[in-house]
Amino acid sequence: MYFGVDYYPEHWVFPYGGTAENPEAQWVQDAQLMRTAGVNVVRIAEFTWGLCEREDGKFDFAWLKRVMDIMGDHGIQVVLGTPTAAPPIWLTLQHPEILQVDEHGLAKHAGTRRAACLNSDVFWTYSKRVVEQMANALGNHPQLIAWQIDNGLGGNFTEAAFNEDTRRDWHGWLEAKYETIERLNHQLGLSHWGQSVSAWNQVPMPMSAPAVHNPALVLDWNRFCSDTIVQFVAMQAEILRKITPDRPITTNLRALRHRFDHFDLAGVLDFVSIESTAAIKTKPSDIACEIDMLRSLKKENIKTPDGDVGFWVMEQKAGHVNWQDVNSLVRPGVLRMFTYQLVSRGATAVLFFRWRQPRFGSEKFHGAVLPHNLEGSRRIFNEVCQIGEELKILAPALQGTRVVAEACILYTHDNDWTLQQPNPPSKYFNLRDHIQLIYNALHDRNILVDFARPTEDLAKYKIVFAPSLHLLSAGDADRLKLYVQNGGTLVGTFNTGHVDEHSIAPDSGIPHNLIDLFGLEVQEFDMLPPTEENHLTFKGVFPTSHLHPARVWCDLIEPKGCQILATYSKDFYAGKPAITLNTFGLGKAIYIGTQSHQHFYHDLVAWLRNMGGLHPLLKVPENIEVAMRERDGSRIYFLLNHQNSPIRVQFYKPMHDFLTGNNIVGNYDLVPHGVLVLDEHPDAKTS
Ligand code: GAL
Repeated sequence: MYFGVDYYPEHWVFPYGGTAENPEAQWVQDAQLMRTAGVNVVRIAEFTWGLCEREDGKFDFAWLKRVMDIMGDHGIQVVLGTPTAAPPIWLTLQHPEILQVDEHGLAKHAGTRRAACLNSDVFWTYSKRVVEQMANALGNHPQLIAWQIDNGLGGNFTEAAFNEDTRRDWHGWLEAKYETIERLNHQLGLSHWGQSVSAWNQVPMPMSAPAVHNPALVLDWNRFCSDTIVQFVAMQAEILRKITPDRPITTNLRALRHRFDHFDLAGVLDFVSIESTAAIKTKPSDIACEIDMLRSLKKENIKTPDGDVGFWVMEQKAGHVNWQDVNSLVRPGVLRMFTYQLVSRGATAVLFFRWRQPRFGSEKFHGAVLPHNLEGSRRIFNEVCQIGEELKILAPALQGTRVVAEACILYTHDNDWTLQQPNPPSKYFNLRDHIQLIYNALHDRNILVDFARPTEDLAKYKIVFAPSLHLLSAGDADRLKLYVQNGGTLVGTFNTGHVDEHSIAPDSGIPHNLIDLFGLEVQEFDMLPPTEENHLTFKGVFPTSHLHPARVWCDLIEPKGCQILATYSKDFYAGKPAITLNTFGLGKAIYIGTQSHQHFYHDLVAWLRNMGGLHPLLKVPENIEVAMRERDGSRIYFLLNHQNSPIRVQFYKPMHDFLTGNNIVGNYDLVPHGVLVLDEHPDAKTS
């Protein structure tokens, strides 16, 4: 198992490290300390363009080779970042046209990372050249085990630019998609406000304008910007695959933060890497949700450096960050616990960001494994060493294991982008919050969850949740029907099937194409302000632990053959169905026409568990998080105590504790922020 750090050797040469006689002396000391910490991989170089090409066409990768040689002497492998995230200053001076233009038509300035428009031909040409040069210079280095393309794509609000090269590509993209102007006008509905065009180059980019842009046009713009990012990565991947065909390719991603299609991007990578700020957030299920989303981006054709099947954590923050209002220290044990959360959900390598706090630059007080002063605090270093030691013990047992989920939540970026457009029915509806309510209920019952697009094979899931698929194509609707037809259980909700993939509302009723599946039609929908709520009256089959409110959104449902599980209890639609169940083929389609509080979703999952045979992983007290990785029927459980106090767990049969080698049976007090890694076979040993 790979275990490592993100390393910036360029920050540690004389006068900031090393000596006048031996300016790079610090690198050897760093490598020695890394060995002590159990580090066997570093990621380097992702911001070094300006150092590897100080002048146009004058390349120097020798210093990076020296770093890699030193790593080699210490048995440490290297992931090389292609440096395109940080264009050099000479390039932007020579070609100011590569700087991004914002929605007001103003060019952003140079002097930071990400200062380039990904549609710029000039930027592509220079990017191709530096990537090629780097791959030729370092691609056959024995330490190189993988490439990371770029870094933090789309970060710092750079998903979209409004340059002239972008306009040209945008028009080309539209032409490739719609083929004729007539179809473009028709499918985007450009006759609204009389904005029809008669030539491709008349189509606007959605820049700052007096009123809102056409939503279909904006949706296509989001898709185009996403394709731009994916193509930029694909371009680099192609170069790297040609020069170093055996080195897997990745990039680091964050969940739901940047506006591009992460599934599409994962498609051009060999394996997914993620960035985690776990240790600075508070809600474990929020973080678990993000990890599961990112793991789910690539479920097949995974090629990692060691042949393992999961994802990498390329940047696990080794402590506090420097971009919150208050950058508190990460408490002892918390970094370890959240690192286990990543491993428990499928991570097969963990690298900490970053090795040491730099003495200069905008991140000089960002947390790190080591502080500026090597004689200073070793608190984080010691915790990282402990994690390294433990992962060494666990690695043989974890090799080849994967997370196998019984439940799935459908998510598409197209849908999310559409829901984030201006003028929604209620600004209080938020897809992420809605997903999180469902996710929390599954998480809290220790049911493993994948995320998927409807185009994926859903047959392997016992239950599929489809929260607010507002945008749904006819093809995707058919896939949902097929899943249920063949025996699956689907839970759909309000705000589903309101528009097709062109953002056109149906004239045949909603949920579009799913009226037969759910056995109902939504005739109107009422938005409730945050101060108001309706209530749900249940019809018996659904056991409830609390009174459940109806909030935010209430669908007014006309049943067309479905069974009614709950109705609204007041207002002019009192007595109308709110929650329904329909048998369709061999399966069941449940429809939840409103949003409720968290208790409702817990009840829902309890009911579905009985009905659909979902299995919680282990019987443990609430607030212990459990996840599991498995291989050939052997299962490894991870138990995490997120509380500041011990929690008593009762084991009815003996479990083997991997970290101590002991067997556990009966009562066990899991210490605050404690972690247990167990398997069911009391005699099994890691060897
Ligand atoms: C990441 C980025 C790193 C560093 C870090 C700070 O998104 O990839 O380079 O800036 O944030 O938390």
